[in-house]
Amino acid sequence: MINEKVISILNEQINKEFYSAYLYLAMSAYFDEMGLHGFANWTKVQAQEEMDHGMIIFDYIIDRNAKIDFKSINVPETNFKSPLNVFERILEHEKYVTSSIDIIANMSLDECDLATRNFINWYIKEQVEEESNASDIITKLKMFGDEKSSLYLIDKELSKREYKKHQYD
Ligand code: FEO
Repeated sequence: MINEKVISILNEQINKEFYSAYLYLAMSAYFDEMGLHGFANWTKVQAQEEMDHGMIIFDYIIDRNAKIDFKSINVPETNFKSPLNVFERILEHEKYVTSSIDIIANMSLDECDLATRNFINWYIKEQVEEESNASDIITKLKMFGDEKSSLYLIDKELSKREYKKHQYD
């Protein structure tokens, strides 16, 4: 039987992943309004991946014969100021998600739940990638983003991102 504290924190993580999807969709809508369709695409694909992250935890809780406990999803912030501001907020948000994942990893060890400790490894790796992706784009925006022609080129690059369903492996 899976530990109640671990189940509770996993349910909270589902909420955080779906909130992340809302946040990225709000960013996507902001970019769309600015006519930056590549940035809008990138953040929309990220929103889809966040929903996959939530669904993988949902399936895991079901597989462990434990109870799903949904909470309200907060309204995301929308007062974005620039593409750089959005990506700085993405990095800040992803660091927060990484700390949540680390807490789950530590708690599952404290509660001797090695199955969950093993399960959460996938998320630990995923967070390294997510923080790195945001940092890379921040670097580009800081170097070139003030020039309209450069912003256009970054937008073109981000338009290439395609959604592939995130599978737990
Ligand atoms: Fe699912 Fe961006 O963390």
